[in-house]
Amino acid sequence: MKPLVLTRDPSLLDDLARLAAGAGVQLEVCGDAIDALASWPIAPLVVIGDDVLVDVAAVAPPPRTGVVVVSQAPAAEVFRLALDVGAGSVVELPAGETHLGALLADVEEAPGRGLVLGVVGGAGGAGASTLACALGQVAGHAGPALVIDTDRVGPGLDRLLGLDETAGVRWDDLASSAGRLGSRSLREAVPRRDGVGVLTWAAGAATMPPLSTLRDVLAAGQRGHSLVVLDLARQAGELSAELMARCDLVLAVMPATVTGIASTLRLITPMADTSRVRLATRRGAVRARDLTAATGVAMAFEVPEQRGLAEAVDLGLGPVRHRRSPLGRAVAEFLAEVA
Ligand SMILES: Nc1ncnc2c1ncn2[C@@H]1O[C@H](COP(=O)(O)OP(=O)(O)O)[C@@H](O)[C@H]1O
Ligand SMILES: [Mg+2]
Repeated sequence: MKPLVLTRDPSLLDDLARLAAGAGVQLEVCGDAIDALASWPIAPLVVIGDDVLVDVAAVAPPPRTGVVVVSQAPAAEVFRLALDVGAGSVVELPAGETHLGALLADVEEAPGRGLVLGVVGGAGGAGASTLACALGQVAGHAGPALVIDTDRVGPGLDRLLGLDETAGVRWDDLASSAGRLGSRSLREAVPRRDGVGVLTWAAGAATMPPLSTLRDVLAAGQRGHSLVVLDLARQAGELSAELMARCDLVLAVMPATVTGIASTLRLITPMADTSRVRLATRRGAVRARDLTAATGVAMAFEVPEQRGLAEAVDLGLGPVRHRRSPLGRAVAEFLAEVA
């Protein structure tokens, strides 16, 4: 979705086009307040020139956030009308160019709202973290992906992806920083290679960030990435329930064994809603349809056994060393289905 610009003023439009180019976004320009109503509720940002402010106020568009009025000489009347249209701020140009440029930069051209996948181990050591990283690696080739580590006692997903020696923001840094997190700044700040970024802890003891930070990161991650993968801890609790609720789909990685089922049932049974949970099974003696019958949860796909996985991880290449590997192909097929 593009930011919606409402103006008929060519000089203002020139300024905005230049700022948008600098921010790497395209604009939807509309000179008519009534024509603009279609995009008004869904545009990621609405920028109104002072020249059409009276017209816009007259059609009384529905209230929304992310409305900005721009003016080269804001008079008192502009501020009054800005209130009428529910604008959050009035930006004076050219003085406020940097601010407006940052707002535009925060609007992502393509994704809008990236898909959020959760991955949780149905059993300990089932391969959840591996799958989370594999999803990120494969998705990263098509568009920006972010893998978020929320398992305090895991190995650290930067290590799994070979990004543990790469500089970048980690949970520890975010916990101490205040203010709204920009989607672009998050994307550019985390350790990243080949389209996949990772947010995890620095080596050593890890403390869970506050829920508000988790929420901000997830929201900013979604705005700035086509895919966000959450590596979820197996421990049930309010936090995991909340994180799962924010996922479009949760993959429960389950060995196709009797103990795998038993353990996965312990995870699934207390869940209030399993409609967005799917099984990602590891090879075992139990047949796929029996796994679904036993858990009451539909199957997403079988995660193939990947030869040389530990070696690839040790070499810093991540679980998907080659995109045509069995794991790479299975993950790509699944992503194509859910996209
Ligand atoms: N698809 C796979 N093929 C082969 N080995 C795997 C696969 N997935 C995970 N493993 C191995 O299983 C072990 C546990 O994996 P991990 O992803 O850390 O599990 P979890 O996060 O569920 O505890 C690791 O040694 C990993 O290399
Ligand atoms: Mg794990």
